[in-house]
Amino acid sequence: MSKLIISEGRPLKGRVRVSGAKNSILPIIAASLLADGKSTIDEIPYLNDVKIMCDLVKSLGASVTLSDEKTKLEICCRGLSNTTAPYELVNKMRASFLVAGPLLAKAGYVQISLPGGCAIGSRPVDLHLKGFMALGASITQGHGYIEARRSGRLKGNKVYLDFPSVGATENIMMAATLAEGVTIIENAAIEPEIVDLATYLTSMGADIKGAGTDTVKIYGVSDLKATSHTVIPDRIEAGTYMVAAAITGGDVVVENVVTDHLKPVTAKLREAGVEVSEELSSIRVRRRDLSAVDIKTHPYPGFPTDMQSQMTSLLSMACGTSMVIETIFENRFMHVSELKRMGANIKVEGRSAIIEGGSRLTGAKVKATDLRAGAALILAGLTADGTTEIENMEHVDRGYIGIDEKLKNLGANVVRVDDDSGN
Ligand code: EPZ
Repeated sequence: MSKLIISEGRPLKGRVRVSGAKNSILPIIAASLLADGKSTIDEIPYLNDVKIMCDLVKSLGASVTLSDEKTKLEICCRGLSNTTAPYELVNKMRASFLVAGPLLAKAGYVQISLPGGCAIGSRPVDLHLKGFMALGASITQGHGYIEARRSGRLKGNKVYLDFPSVGATENIMMAATLAEGVTIIENAAIEPEIVDLATYLTSMGADIKGAGTDTVKIYGVSDLKATSHTVIPDRIEAGTYMVAAAITGGDVVVENVVTDHLKPVTAKLREAGVEVSEELSSIRVRRRDLSAVDIKTHPYPGFPTDMQSQMTSLLSMACGTSMVIETIFENRFMHVSELKRMGANIKVEGRSAIIEGGSRLTGAKVKATDLRAGAALILAGLTADGTTEIENMEHVDRGYIGIDEKLKNLGANVVRVDDDSGN
């Protein structure tokens, strides 16, 4: 257990480089199981979640080598020695479920623990299973595990997703690469991470059209080859540092970004009065004033749910009343009760949060409950009067590589303390 201590909020200034996208590297590691040979993946963020996914593919028979700089992975698959994804690993990280599609396609069978819910919601996988069954897999469930098996090759089919689920789109796309015939995923998720995964699969020899649109066609092939790939930058990490500049009234250049991926965040910050200027692969953020805005989260290219809690912290400082509506997850306001302990004036009603902005935040001892809630508390601590202690930093470390160093380099007064008291 570790905690972050932030004292005397001050304007952040300088440049910060964004790392590779967590939500891209996780499905890409899973996809590596589809090919025999050695794949190399560059610009990886060696986060706790990446370690878990590497441990999982190793338990399935892959070998994984990390470069000395911890920015490049080599994943070597020579057949799969195991087709069970155990509860202990899947329970740690929901994204572990993304090995189901590759195992089903490559080995013809997978036994995988049903991912439990998490702090932000129940997070079912029914759409993943609907896709697998459409491709001809038979699914049984029992004792907390799902078993999926195919007799002969999977068969291409049309799959309509009731909701444009990111994970379901990824799992079905991966399973379909080795199916016989064409698979059409309709109402597919169109997040940049889907496109990055499709780019990786295509470089392995898959035949995929339409990734990044709501209709993805996968023309099955007989086998895939190992390849090399560089992961796209993390748009949510980038957005978090953009908000850090805005909330502290600073002047920060966020480097190594794809500005297109940040359009909804840039638009909303500008609407709130924040000065955002885009360069080729960087974004400069300065705050002049800060006014209330309304936010409703939506699948991409709508405002991302993964930026909702960070914006809630920012809007606690804005003059006026803001309304934030969370449409993706049923319980993603866990940061609000902690922000209120820092003086924020927020009222949650169901999936809506009404924020009466303009109050100065004061430092307090707070607890991170999940990844983005923890980020929101750090942002609040960066501007609060006095000292803020954020406990349970392991949640934040799942998605933000080197966050304390990156903030220190921007002038923040942050210290990480390993809390060996075990609480
Ligand atoms: C991915 O989760 C991301 N994680 C999440 O990021 C992100 O918040 C989410 O997409 C939405 O953008 C990774 O990519 C590893 P979904 P995922 O399937 O795939 C419902 C972060 O902070 N649903 O698009 O699990 C589900 O309950 C994390 O980095 C079903 O009903 O998201 C939720 O309400 C958090 N049935 C909604 O869809 C299903 O079979 C969105 O889920 C699947 C999903």
